[in-house]
Amino acid sequence: MSTAVTPESRQVAEAVLAANPANTYLKEIDSELNKAYFEEKARQEALASFAKEERELMDLGSKHYSGLCASCHGANGQGVPAGNQLLAPSFVNNPRVLGDKSLLAHIALNGFTGPIAGKTYTGGVMLALKSNDDKYIAAALTYIRNSWGNKAVMVTPQDIAKVRRKTSSVTGPYTEKTIRKVMLNSGDDIKLWKLSATKGQKYLPNLQDDDLKNTYATKSQMKKGFYIQADFPHERKISRVILQAKGNDFPKALKVEISTDGKTWQTVAAKVKGKRTTVVSFPTTIATKLRVTCLEDKKSWWQLYDFKIPTPQK
Ligand code: HEC
Repeated sequence: MSTAVTPESRQVAEAVLAANPANTYLKEIDSELNKAYFEEKARQEALASFAKEERELMDLGSKHYSGLCASCHGANGQGVPAGNQLLAPSFVNNPRVLGDKSLLAHIALNGFTGPIAGKTYTGGVMLALKSNDDKYIAAALTYIRNSWGNKAVMVTPQDIAKVRRKTSSVTGPYTEKTIRKVMLNSGDDIKLWKLSATKGQKYLPNLQDDDLKNTYATKSQMKKGFYIQADFPHERKISRVILQAKGNDFPKALKVEISTDGKTWQTVAAKVKGKRTTVVSFPTTIATKLRVTCLEDKKSWWQLYDFKIPTPQK
């Protein structure tokens, strides 16, 4: 029997349900039989409302940008020239603009005083935007992350509100030194990481999309030495890895190593027993890279739904 849902079969089902409003049993059967359909429908609705919110923020952000930011950062986002310097940094391909949105929100809310990455700008300091409301800042940041060829997830008013609460006691602008502390506690979004693996390289983006059903898979039997590696956008504090495997497709034994330069590696967990959900904890350390390696051969693929390396709770 095919359980595929068509618009016609939905119409029939809706009519039957409407004719029997008191029959909760029918409704239960309907939602159970057509589970996949309802899940997909909910996903589509979530995507549509996501797209709508993003469009709104982009429209609003475009206004705020030309109303204020463009006078220093330029209509083309590349910074207004001032002699052989710039009034303010270019946003095009700027790793801080495209990186962790919480980090960017910290800078936008509280301001920044340079130099930045070895450069000084003639426009003085970046003013704190905290006198504006959450939506204003979210819109401006979403706009600069998604204009002039830039592409990064939107920043929502909720994201701004969260950072605003956390930084309510911050008074002056950040410097490279003070922002480093914030940086060490950010970068946990897997979308910001560069992932690599011994096998199944092309399935790694499945760990970075929003669809939880897709897996990363080696598509070949596990061999001792197979690894999965995450490169973070900057140095960050870590203390835990969580691997969510599919079925029985996980290594029997694994180890976790970290590095700050990609040359020297330090083992933080030497021999961990694999499980469907494997949680590896180790003392808090600073790293830019983390690698999980399979320690024994196994006659199954390695398949993961989820790979998390959260920021330690303070
Ligand atoms: C009066 C000039 C001026 C205006 C207006 C201005 N900025 Fe800036 N902005 C700067 C300067 C100068 C810096 C660099 C700070 C430094 O080096 O001391 C900067 C830095 C930044 C940074 C950090 C960039 C990086 O490379 O790390 C962000 C983000 C930013 N501005 C966002 C905005 C947004 C969004 C607006 C509009 C809502 C805006 N700025 C308006 C002058 C300005």
